[in-house]
Amino acid sequence: MNSKIKRILKKKNKSQILCLTAYSKNFAEEVDKYADITLVGDSLGSVLYNYETTKKVTLTNMIDHARSVRIGVKKSLLTVDMPYNTYRSNSAALKNAKKILKETKCDAVKLEGGKKIISQVQCLIKNKIPVMGHLGLLPQTAKGKFRSKGKTEKEKKKLINDALMLQKNGVFAIVLECIKTSTAKQITNALKIPTIGIGSSKFCDGQVLVTDDLLGLNNTKIRFVKKFVDLKKFIRLGIKKFSLEVKSKRYPSKIHSY
Ligand code: KIV
Repeated sequence: MNSKIKRILKKKNKSQILCLTAYSKNFAEEVDKYADITLVGDSLGSVLYNYETTKKVTLTNMIDHARSVRIGVKKSLLTVDMPYNTYRSNSAALKNAKKILKETKCDAVKLEGGKKIISQVQCLIKNKIPVMGHLGLLPQTAKGKFRSKGKTEKEKKKLINDALMLQKNGVFAIVLECIKTSTAKQITNALKIPTIGIGSSKFCDGQVLVTDDLLGLNNTKIRFVKKFVDLKKFIRLGIKKFSLEVKSKRYPSKIHSY
């Protein structure tokens, strides 16, 4: 087993696992200093390209961004989302996952779903491709308004069964997105592998957020997003200073000239 995955598994019930998204080298370099897992999420579709859903994200999009991120990641586990429609069958999943791994040199891939995609998960793991699961709100197939999951007894049972099935088939961790606190807690306690929560309470084994959201680069109104810093303010300040100095001819000065 990959030594980075071993280290992540050992953290269960000991210390919180950190996962953050990165879509390019410069962000990856900073994320990698803290994160156990750097995720090239297909959330890049909405964050960078303004797509309404992640359905429009292509394999080429994911590979191009992951290649940039790979340059900045030195120590964390680099995981890449398999985009919508790229794992409909076992053969498609294997072909596309192999392509992602070969072209980006990432460590693992992430797929959304439980029982429905278990055959694809089995196929990848049989071929020694590490897989991260994703349950709860599944942005690739969600219809209509986003709402939290695991509120009814039926939904809760299904989520627990899906999680156990993913674990049995060898995924190394599962992202739990927008799952009711008590259900997320129950899933986490039922598993030996870690759960990484996003909008799923503090009872998960770790947390993931879209880095652009926590830095205040997105105008996200989602309940679980906390803006830890207003990076836009600093970007604006830098650009304003540049603009003022260029207009007043203070920049470029002698030391910036040949
Ligand atoms: O696409 C993504 O960034 C994700 C995380 C938010 C879990 O799947």
